[in-house]
Amino acid sequence: MIRLKNEKQIDGIRKSCKVLSAMYRELIPQVKPGVQTIDIDFWVRDWIKKAGGKPVFLGYCPKKKPYPAAICISINEEVIHGIPSKRRIREGDLVSLDCGINLDGFISDQAVSIEAGRVSGDVRKLNTVTMECLYKGIEAVKAGDRLLQISRAVEGHAKANGYGIVEDFCGHGVGFELHEDPHVPNYPHGSNPKLKNGMVFAIEPMINMGGADVEILDDEWTIVTADEKISAHWEHTVAIFNDKTEILTEPLEQFIFL
Ligand code: MF3
Ligand code: CO
Repeated sequence: MIRLKNEKQIDGIRKSCKVLSAMYRELIPQVKPGVQTIDIDFWVRDWIKKAGGKPVFLGYCPKKKPYPAAICISINEEVIHGIPSKRRIREGDLVSLDCGINLDGFISDQAVSIEAGRVSGDVRKLNTVTMECLYKGIEAVKAGDRLLQISRAVEGHAKANGYGIVEDFCGHGVGFELHEDPHVPNYPHGSNPKLKNGMVFAIEPMINMGGADVEILDDEWTIVTADEKISAHWEHTVAIFNDKTEILTEPLEQFIFL
């Protein structure tokens, strides 16, 4: 069931999204070679607490093992749900960050992929195209149109560049909970509801330099590419209201592609 949001509720989700993006603006310059990913997690927990919010991912438990951190940090062939650890970021890594905040009961969700130091031309291209896939998807969000138009737009741009599209994970409704209906896949698949005023969802292309297939590591969370090629991930929370599409989280690419 898709839970539509009224204007006041969208105001609350927007606030949560703005706080999340403000956190990222401070965090992004710190994601550099030599930094341990666990230290990023501690910083994020502290920042969210000081902002009066709660980290939504911490303790999130859709399966056996609760997610143990406030942020997902997925490096190179890790696609999503990488767990912060003593691992140090290295020059040339593609570091995907994914975080959500609960602010006064309203949930936000945003992800970006950051280039640590200088990355190869191939990695830069994958990262740029994945970010473009996100915006192509958002451009396809039109009240009265159908949801899978978003999926077609994302898929079209990824395929035109010869990349693999992760099929096992997708975007989702968000706002009252982290994962609500509808599914927002990155290729046309499954239900195709009409896009309506009051819908709030996360669009999140996960795009691979190689094939689409992914595997899960023994930690029961980290998703990696089966062929161990690099993967990128970009995500915004968007809302449809008064027949207009609004990106509730804020653009961060100007802090990444310097
Ligand atoms: N942002 C992720 C998503 O959109 C959620 C991460 S799952 C968690 O699905 F367990 F890490 F919270
Ligand atoms: Co999400």
